[in-house]
Amino acid sequence: MASSGSADLVIVANRLPVDRVTLPDGSQGWRPSPGGLVTAIEPILRANEGTWIGWPGGTETEDELEPFEDDGMDLVPMAMTATEVEYHYEGFSNATLWPLYHDVVAKPEFHREWWDSYKAVNQRFAEKAAEEAAEGATVWVHDYQMQLVPAMLRKLRPDLRIGFFLHIPFPPTELFQQLPWRRQILEGLLGADLVGFQLSGAAQNFVRLVRQRVGHKTHRDLVYLPDGRTVRAAAFPISIDSAGFEELARSEPVSERAVEIREALGNPRKVFLGVDRLDYTKGIYARLRAFAELIEDGELDVEDAVFVQVATPSREQVEQYRILRDDIDRLVGRINGDLGKIGQPAIAYFHSSYPREEMAALYRAADIMVVTPFRDGMNLVAKEYVACRFDNGGALVLSEFAGAAEELRQAWQINPYDINGMKAALLDAYQAEDRDLTRRMKAMRKQVMEHDVAAWADKFLEELGALQSSHSKSVRP
Ligand code: ADP
Ligand code: G6P
Repeated sequence: MASSGSADLVIVANRLPVDRVTLPDGSQGWRPSPGGLVTAIEPILRANEGTWIGWPGGTETEDELEPFEDDGMDLVPMAMTATEVEYHYEGFSNATLWPLYHDVVAKPEFHREWWDSYKAVNQRFAEKAAEEAAEGATVWVHDYQMQLVPAMLRKLRPDLRIGFFLHIPFPPTELFQQLPWRRQILEGLLGADLVGFQLSGAAQNFVRLVRQRVGHKTHRDLVYLPDGRTVRAAAFPISIDSAGFEELARSEPVSERAVEIREALGNPRKVFLGVDRLDYTKGIYARLRAFAELIEDGELDVEDAVFVQVATPSREQVEQYRILRDDIDRLVGRINGDLGKIGQPAIAYFHSSYPREEMAALYRAADIMVVTPFRDGMNLVAKEYVACRFDNGGALVLSEFAGAAEELRQAWQINPYDINGMKAALLDAYQAEDRDLTRRMKAMRKQVMEHDVAAWADKFLEELGALQSSHSKSVRP
């Protein structure tokens, strides 16, 4: 067993919550990392005192990176070489696993050298976790970039409680089978005591695959390993710091900024809003087309309605993301060229990342929030919008293929592949009466405010804690 460190809770994720950037004056600075994983996990670590192991972006070497404290969190930065960024991060994580796990919306690529790099990076992260964790500590491993860490870590430190949570969808069995390294991935995950997914269907897929591909005995949500260990797979739908978002949305500066945003847009009757990482799974192209067609059909007028699309730059070295960026640039240009008027573009498009205050102001300024992924593990943007609407106003148009659709039943749910259906829903939300909006928003708010990310983490950690003690007593079928 490796010698142990001092952290009682260790988070392992590909990314740290902060990303290293070069500032305009050439000096190095930090900014919040993109994406839902960081939004969700950061408040948990702050509340629990623990250590977060992850990559700070870039290609600094190990000697240039020292552990540091940020806003009460102990951060341990992990170096990646330029080749590892290309093979492990851009390659295996984001050009193999990401499209495969999102319904092959883009075609996954399989390359053996990418896989080798994924293994090597996972091994290094596991070794670091083994070094940082105290005797008997809990290590919580996150997401698709780190699926081998649980088994690698267990080998080094059998004394630990190991949890794993997958933030993205777990694919249907038929798609997962395409992966040349399917068995190794399953065995990697089985190093955890508790494997968490967003939805129960995903947990069931996983258990079925383990039975079929690895040949272990399973019963309901339990997997029985030959060494006597039991692994549980279950759903834990993730959430946000709901009260934190509401508080931000209620604050004076955010309220003022929301009014300013509407004014800057020319005070249209209704503001549509899309907020996403610029990712091909999010259905941005289809939604903008649907909106433009409503104007072309004469159902909407640019004097009355504007679509604000905010897209965070993401994974810009990966080819599919470059293609998407060009496609969206061209589409927005064409729509505004054809349909906009002076001072009144049909689409206000921003390719940039904003502070949380600005996001909250945008949510408050928007009448119709449009969330249309082809597939999404949860989609926290939808929950953030709901949390910010303490006025019980605003409409949510939500893809039925987002995990959030299981909880946010009162949204206008759409199939993003069905453009006409999407157009009808956008129009219906646009024309909805206040009474209808209030009724729907109240119900969705109840769900989001009562199920926040603190409750999610408590439940996961509690069940992880309860498991180990019951393992020895568990009866095998
Ligand atoms: P994903 O994890 O796939 O990016 P989610 O919707 O679950 O999708 O999470 C996205 C997170 O990133 C949310 O917390 C959202 O507020 C944040 N976000 C998205 N776009 C921007 C942006 N342009 N600026 C700042 N934050 C953003
Ligand atoms: C999603 C994934 C995260 C990832 C984030 C940002 O939320 O689930 O694991 O960190 O997107 O993507 P990036 O590639 O920039 O880390």
